Amino acid sequence: MTAFLDGNSCVVGLQWGDEGKGKIVDFLTEHADVVVRYCGGANAGHTVRIGQEKYATHLLPVGVFRPGVMNLIGNGVVLDPAVLFREIDEFLGRGVAISPVNLKISYKTHLVMPYHMQEDAARESSAEGGGIGTTRRGIGPTYADKMQRATALRVADLAHEEKLKNKIGQIVTERNKVLKVLYDVPPMEWKPIFEQYRDYGRRIQPFVDDVGHLLIEYGKQGKRIVFEGAHAALLDVDHGTYPYVTSSSCSALGLYTGSGAPPQLVQNFVGIMKAYSTRVGGGPFPTEQNNNIGEYIRERGNEYGTTTRRPRRCGWFDAVAVKYTVELQGITQIALTLLDVLSGLDHIQICTGYKWHGQRLDYFRADMDVLAEVEPIYETLPGWNGNISGVRKFEELPKEAQQYVKRLEQLVGAPIKIVSVGAERSATLLR
Ligand code: GDP
Ligand code: IMO
Ligand code: MG
Repeated sequence: MTAFLDGNSCVVGLQWGDEGKGKIVDFLTEHADVVVRYCGGANAGHTVRIGQEKYATHLLPVGVFRPGVMNLIGNGVVLDPAVLFREIDEFLGRGVAISPVNLKISYKTHLVMPYHMQEDAARESSAEGGGIGTTRRGIGPTYADKMQRATALRVADLAHEEKLKNKIGQIVTERNKVLKVLYDVPPMEWKPIFEQYRDYGRRIQPFVDDVGHLLIEYGKQGKRIVFEGAHAALLDVDHGTYPYVTSSSCSALGLYTGSGAPPQLVQNFVGIMKAYSTRVGGGPFPTEQNNNIGEYIRERGNEYGTTTRRPRRCGWFDAVAVKYTVELQGITQIALTLLDVLSGLDHIQICTGYKWHGQRLDYFRADMDVLAEVEPIYETLPGWNGNISGVRKFEELPKEAQQYVKRLEQLVGAPIKIVSVGAERSATLLR
């Protein structure tokens, strides 16, 4: 058994998402009993490669690929039932068992509605000077309604069809007026939306449960739990590079409110970081390489969005940013991913500091205006050649690759315990 899973673990991204959380959660889940999603929605795209099979999950926890593992969708998630059932049907068709035996959804989980998607897309298309670059999955408007309260719908509401009908009627009527004025979009009919969600409601009932209570009980029973963070700390609505973030508390700090787990349930905070940096959508990105280095990384790392297929922006590893997210989340171990992508470069650069208005900044400011102006200070390390995807022992990596890993760990301040050298489940080294 891996030392990682002595106790319960939260797996979180240390950059701007797509660090390989899906792969590492799947890897760790070999020794787990429960996997929990606690934030975000179908804006996430987590990839798991098992042999020749490749799966992309948006809402389902990746524990569905491990027989016997219980999968929970917590209240902090925003759930688009259309995506959920599409995903379930796709995986069932591919022989992955998914039923109320291995999947439970919190009754407190908020629902993404068609008008949320409409609003997200309309706002993105109309925003002066460009939008945030969202995934247009209705995420922001759904969380806004959650906080607004009167205009929100939760999984629990699907159980009461008469009330659901009235509520959808009221909300859609109101939303049509607002969206017409703001974006001149054509009105939606409330009745087909009601009928669609009534049908989703009938199908979802066997999966609905009290996730917070289940977690407390699993804790008492000593079950091993892995919390599957989505997005990443730099996309956290409070601690990320606001406003170019997503709308949930997607750092490790959000796991308690997003699942109902008591704080002492989690002992390990496993940060996932890729060997370089990427970001999708808008926002500051100090180490971005808008040149042949960025293209080299994008092509070798297949850096195209799992959810939207947008090309990801690519750049050097930013140790200033990652040190911040390591400290913010109390990271106890790191899994470094996509190291194989950097093979073949003569030199590799690491950003070890920022210069701002002539001064060296000693720590990361999650402030748009500062980040847009900082100048990265780089340290240069020698690169290495050859395909390292077949390597299974750290000591067998080229010595320059070992040196790179050790330097990253020094700079970000937490031990790198896992190194991933390929997308496949087994392309993983333990240190
Ligand atoms: P997530 O959102 O953090 O789960 O990451 P994504 O699945 O969106 O993106 C990570 C991509 O890198 C996926 O295509 C993975 O299959 C792939 N991947 C994960 N780890 C490695 C690795 O070590 N090497 C390579 N080459 N690909 C990897
Ligand atoms: P995973 O879990 C990368 C980004 C979007 C956009 C911003 C806001 O796969 O790592 P939203 O639709 O959430 O309102 O978009 O956040 N974003 C992600 N980028 N990986 C993700 O998830 C992301 N989830 C949201 O690209 O810039
Ligand atoms: Mg992803």
